[in-house]
Amino acid sequence: MLPVIFAASLLAPAVAAAAEPGRIITRGDGIIRSPVRPIAGPGTNLRVRQNEVEVLNQRAGTRYGVEIEVGTPPQKLTLILDTGSPTTWINPVCATSNLPSDCAQFAQFDYEKSSSLNVTDYVDVLRYGIGNATVQYVYETVSIGSATIENQLIGIAVESHRIPLGILGVSPPIHGQNEYPYILDTMVDQGLIKSRAFSVDLRGVDNPTGALIFGGIDTGKYIGTLAKLPIIPQAKTPSGADRYYITMTGVGLTLPDGSIVQSEELAVPVFLDTGATLSHLPTQIYQALAASFPDAQYDPTSGFYILPCDYTDMAGSIDFYFAGKTIRVPLNDFIWENGPYCILGVTPEDTEPILGDTFLRAAYVVYDQDNRNLHLAQAANCGTNLVAIGEGEDAVPSSTGRCTALPTPTGKGNSLDVTATRPPANTFTGTLPSAGIDGGPGPAQGGTGPTSVTGAGLVPTGNAGSTGSPNAAGRGVAVGGGAAVAAALGVVNVFAWML
Ligand SMILES: *[C@@H]1O[C@H](CO)[C@@H](O)[C@H](O)[C@H]1NC(C)=O
Ligand SMILES: *[C@@H]1O[C@H](CO)[C@@H](O)[C@H](O)[C@H]1NC(C)=O
Repeated sequence: MLPVIFAASLLAPAVAAAAEPGRIITRGDGIIRSPVRPIAGPGTNLRVRQNEVEVLNQRAGTRYGVEIEVGTPPQKLTLILDTGSPTTWINPVCATSNLPSDCAQFAQFDYEKSSSLNVTDYVDVLRYGIGNATVQYVYETVSIGSATIENQLIGIAVESHRIPLGILGVSPPIHGQNEYPYILDTMVDQGLIKSRAFSVDLRGVDNPTGALIFGGIDTGKYIGTLAKLPIIPQAKTPSGADRYYITMTGVGLTLPDGSIVQSEELAVPVFLDTGATLSHLPTQIYQALAASFPDAQYDPTSGFYILPCDYTDMAGSIDFYFAGKTIRVPLNDFIWENGPYCILGVTPEDTEPILGDTFLRAAYVVYDQDNRNLHLAQAANCGTNLVAIGEGEDAVPSSTGRCTALPTPTGKGNSLDVTATRPPANTFTGTLPSAGIDGGPGPAQGGTGPTSVTGAGLVPTGNAGSTGSPNAAGRGVAVGGGAAVAAALGVVNVFAWML
């Protein structure tokens, strides 16, 4: 059992960080910076793997969007920033999205107005944890921040289900090999950045704008050193998918009085996924974290633990340990408001554990695909100081963050047992706003496998409009009938494009 527990009597106000207005900084040295904005819903989470969880009426930070420009003349679009998938595609079909009105409030791409559109005969079905999109690939001009990428292959959705926005994919190729040059590859090829590396600063729920920086880091956005953590080789990941997996060595909490509770040393593979709203951790860890809040109530319908909202005003953090680095996530960033209720931002996941936005808001992360490392530090905000990422083994600079260290916890405190199974002590008897929660996390979908892009691959349909030109009659780009497309995709050749 937990000897020390959060209690409302320990209430202490959390300190709110200053907000910074969004802006794009242009530099001539291979650094491209673009704002990342939390998109508040009536929204839904767009979690891109199994165990989809949707939460309504959350505070800002349900999902994180990046504004890009596509086409000539450029059209502004908002895409979800996703470190959990490699493909970039635009223009979901709102009618079949889970929240059509939410989808419709964003600008949609009008291909007929772009002179740089170059349609290919290739289509793809992209499957995510929830929803899917059938896309046709086109070459287009894509601008992110100050960078203009020519002839980037992107998907345009001709059909999509339950996905409210397009996706900016920046993960490694899930199967370990590129199907075609993704955005990061093209940026390097075209000399816009020096290596396939970027950093992401999502910022807290109370801050409007974080940043995605290709080819650079911002030492004004973190504390102390960046810990270099190897990305787990594809063959050793839990799912066999190549993702941004690193090894988490422990979990714990810092209590409002400054003492800590910490698990024994662990070796849990977790992947860092900006496209996941919540974190998804092994059942015993999820239960141990929930049991640290004595008044947490388990909601059997959704699988969420409901907490008194007072916790969001309390000092203290949920702590994640890695080799050489501890990331402390303030309770305010880990707990979610859902109508009148607050929800602990973690669900059980024994197959493919994920640290999603509830973790990433407190972490500054550099994703270095070329050297297969993630670099991790505690996020903070103390101005802007961009440093370029070069090339080669030590491309990511080891610059120390400029921000002031957090108070050091006052002691080793007590141990958190994450090996026990803890049935919920209290059951939630209220009703969560039903529109916002679609089924809850549920059990992992065994069998389908965690590689959510199964079926991805570029396959000539043979019926994609023989002229190769957009069909104005359709919404988007013609790819022939849905059935024909599906049949063609039955004979997926993932590497067709490379031949
Ligand atoms: C369109 O793409 C094809 C295939 O890469 C290429 O051969 C052609 O030159 C492109 N057309 C234009 C107008 O860019
Ligand atoms: C996409 O999802 C919808 C709704 O869940 C489903 O009916 C459809 O069959 C899926 N399409 C593909 C190609 O998997």
